[in-house]
Amino acid sequence: MNVLVVGGGGREHTIIKKLKENKEITKLYALPGNGGISRDAECVNIGAKDIDGIVKFATENKIDFAVVAPDDPLVLGAVDALHKVGIKCFGPCADAAIIEGSKVFSKDLMKKYGIPTAFYEVFTDKKSAIDYLEKSSYPIVIKADGLALGKGVVIAENFDSAKAAVISMMEDKIFGESGSNIVIEQFLKGVEVSVLAFTDGKTVVPMVSSMDHKRALDNDKGDNTGGMGTIAPNPYYTPDVADVCMKEIFIPTIEAMKKEGRTFKGCLYFGLMICDGKPYVIEYNCRFGDPETQVVLPLLKTDLFEIMKAVEDERLDEINVEFDGGCACCVVVASGGYPKKYETGKVIDFGKVDTLDNVTVYHAGTKLSENGEILTSGGRVLGVTAVADTLENAIKKAYEGAEMINFEKKHMRSDIGQTALKALK
Ligand code: AMP
Ligand code: GLY
Repeated sequence: MNVLVVGGGGREHTIIKKLKENKEITKLYALPGNGGISRDAECVNIGAKDIDGIVKFATENKIDFAVVAPDDPLVLGAVDALHKVGIKCFGPCADAAIIEGSKVFSKDLMKKYGIPTAFYEVFTDKKSAIDYLEKSSYPIVIKADGLALGKGVVIAENFDSAKAAVISMMEDKIFGESGSNIVIEQFLKGVEVSVLAFTDGKTVVPMVSSMDHKRALDNDKGDNTGGMGTIAPNPYYTPDVADVCMKEIFIPTIEAMKKEGRTFKGCLYFGLMICDGKPYVIEYNCRFGDPETQVVLPLLKTDLFEIMKAVEDERLDEINVEFDGGCACCVVVASGGYPKKYETGKVIDFGKVDTLDNVTVYHAGTKLSENGEILTSGGRVLGVTAVADTLENAIKKAYEGAEMINFEKKHMRSDIGQTALKALK
């Protein structure tokens, strides 16, 4: 079978390595892929948002199955377009991907179906938003409606910064049309848990839970990033919390989408806040999280491609999805300066990291040079994942690997997993 993966980051590299375990797949393509992915799949320089280009390539190369991994192509309707030419896919159609594509949609969905989330109001004009902020208590959370590269959320400590955020989104349009409508919501204090779930619109199968580390610097200081590291499982996601999530959040969400005529098929990401033991939905993503995937999929025992085909064919209930019971830690190795200004094109020295057992280096922002060297090409460069029997060992091993890797101005956090370790103690 010819299989195509749309995307070119650490998440896609992890998916591709997992798909390679399936013997039925004879040819794997990545669009556009990256330097590291090119060792595991044939990379073709077609951008993830180039829907016409993706469909043309898929048709010409007799693709049997396509995995659409990033949010943009999903929201833009890549799966709909591929279905139209008869290609099976893993990933939601655009009418379901809206669960991530519009915060107004997802908040209204939760309100309508009684799914626990922060109290909120939607605003379509600047004046009423600012009037509302004058009467609000702080901190408060302001969110642009549409996709904003993960940067459309502002936690404002006081009226002045909240007002500035509203003006930058609604008047200065720093996120373009994404900020035409905004959500202002209650600030929730608690611990965050990410849960990715496979769903075919009828059955929902949560994967092992995880914890992201979003800030650039140790002790959760510095700017928000796409994620500086992850661990799995998340110790705050106790069996009791998992039960409540299944009953009050996961199943109700799948059913709500079905009732709205927007059956969701693919990986649904639940970004949860656990407040005094009670889970609330902070956000939905219509796809695998990055870098959550880099710790969740390495723990998956069941064949990923079998699951993906079952999701597309709406027979997920026939598959026994199993995880191996271990722990994983992913340390992101980034370019100094990320998420602000950083340099690229640095030669990466991988040292002896290949010789470490149970350590895998997933490439996020790398490219192959003309003479075969791997160069940095993005903010988040690599994700070094270790799998072990305990979280403590997984963290130790991931850092052992990450420290062997060198390039000019390399940056990583030194405390990935420490919050989780403390919680376990
Ligand atoms: P989002 O893009 O919706 O995931 O938001 C980005 C981050 O902002 C989340 O991971 C949380 O850390 C934080 N956040 C979002 N909404 C809230 C909220 N209502 N209360 C507290 N923190 C929030
Ligand atoms: N790690 C969060 C996300 O993928 O959006």
